[in-house]
Amino acid sequence: VLRAVFSRTFPQVVRISACQHSTIPAPNAHPDVHFNKIFINNEWHDAVSKKTFPTINPAMGEVICQVAEGDKADVEKAVKAAKDAFKLGSPWRRMDASHRGLLLSRLADCIKRDAAYLAELETLDNGKPYAVSYTVDVPMVVIHTCLISLSLKTALITALVCYQRLKPLLLSLKLHFGIGNGGGFPCWCRQHYPRNGYHGGAAIASHMDVDKVAFTGSTEVGHLILKASSSSNLKKVTLELGGKSPNIILSDAKMEEAVEQSHFALFFNQGQCCCAGSHTFVQESIYDEFVERSVERAKKRIVGDPFDLNTEQGPQVDEEQFQKILGYISSGKRDGAKLMCGGEAAADRGYFIQPTIFRDVKDDMTIAREKIFGPVMQILKFRSLEEVIERANDSKYGLAAAVFTQNIDKAHYISNGLRAGTVWINCYDVFGAQAPFGGYKSSGIGRELGEYGLDNYTEVKTVTIKVPQKNS
Ligand SMILES: *[C@@H]1O[C@H](CO)[C@@H](O)[C@H](O)[C@H]1NC(C)=O
Ligand SMILES: *[C@@H]1O[C@H](CO)[C@@H](O)[C@H](O)[C@H]1NC(C)=O
Repeated sequence: VLRAVFSRTFPQVVRISACQHSTIPAPNAHPDVHFNKIFINNEWHDAVSKKTFPTINPAMGEVICQVAEGDKADVEKAVKAAKDAFKLGSPWRRMDASHRGLLLSRLADCIKRDAAYLAELETLDNGKPYAVSYTVDVPMVVIHTCLISLSLKTALITALVCYQRLKPLLLSLKLHFGIGNGGGFPCWCRQHYPRNGYHGGAAIASHMDVDKVAFTGSTEVGHLILKASSSSNLKKVTLELGGKSPNIILSDAKMEEAVEQSHFALFFNQGQCCCAGSHTFVQESIYDEFVERSVERAKKRIVGDPFDLNTEQGPQVDEEQFQKILGYISSGKRDGAKLMCGGEAAADRGYFIQPTIFRDVKDDMTIAREKIFGPVMQILKFRSLEEVIERANDSKYGLAAAVFTQNIDKAHYISNGLRAGTVWINCYDVFGAQAPFGGYKSSGIGRELGEYGLDNYTEVKTVTIKVPQKNS
């Protein structure tokens, strides 16, 4: 039922490569920030510790505002509120499941209504081009909220509301919950902690009253979350972690399409995607041409003010990442990969990096093994399909992969051999709220999205009733 309703409501998956500039409203590059506190039980709270942290505009390197910094004490408050809201007899518990679904649909409508403002905050805080925030991030939030609201037809529980996966960054998230405030929810609680703050995460993971944790982030922090959770209540933990995703171009691929899609696969979101196609394997006979065309394309990439609708690439998310990426570029040069373009900071201020391409990259080089999370493409050469499957699999990660070919048998053969949670054929970064997403190996545990992804948010209860054997 869910699948049928959903595909009728949203016949198109979100194609993040297809931005329609004509339909994007002009952004306000200086949106007011209304919410910078912690939202628990329909109210805004300062952190119990009163601590705050600055959030930085990465395009300018300047502080946008101070934000409340949650830690263990705030987690306690939030968990207590959630627990109270789910007590037997509480309004949420008594509410008809389809009414809960309606509330979530209403929330999705509110997000849609405020899409431009949310996208402005996201761009201000994260640096991603506004055209992307508006056409990709906000619509994805709407679609995922709808997915969850539709599934409430199948009678899900409060936990879904408290822990559903919405992925906008800090400020927009806060605003988002501000909208929820007006939506008629009897309780709405959620804990935020700063990007670099592990304490809040550990407090949630180890909490005895939290039944489910879904974490998206680095493999290192994923390990920490799992460790923290192991001494708790055997809660369910699902993790969507890093990747070093192979993007395999066979000699029979349509060249222009393969070049453009591979460019998008790597450079989208400034290269900051868990599933970025950052391991580009190109078959020997087309290698030189592919490199040449990719360099031409990268040189045309428009880097600059993320509020300019023509901009394709904004700054990296923060200074730490910026420095780390420049470090990887130096290591690539030191290890003997050939730098074909870029390689340096792209502006005097802010955390901009030039679109960078290396050729003649070997499997054992650091840039070929580690997750760079930046606009740095490494192009490797291969001969046979057997060889490329082995080399693509020879990674601790297994999040995503892609194959470009016009031969359906080869596409099947490679996708069957690859150990990755998602394989795209002749496309990249195509997401549907209906399609489960997650990783093999060190790229995670479990899946998000789709009905399958909702599995870990529910519990099965068997109720057995004795049928009387005679009328007494
Ligand atoms: C890669 O995949 C191939 C074929 O599925 C398999 O034989 C090989 O063991 C895999 N390698 C790794 C490191 O997962
Ligand atoms: C549910 O969680 C368990 C670990 O807690 C994991 O093994 C399983 O794959 C998850 N299922 C889904 C659908 O995410």
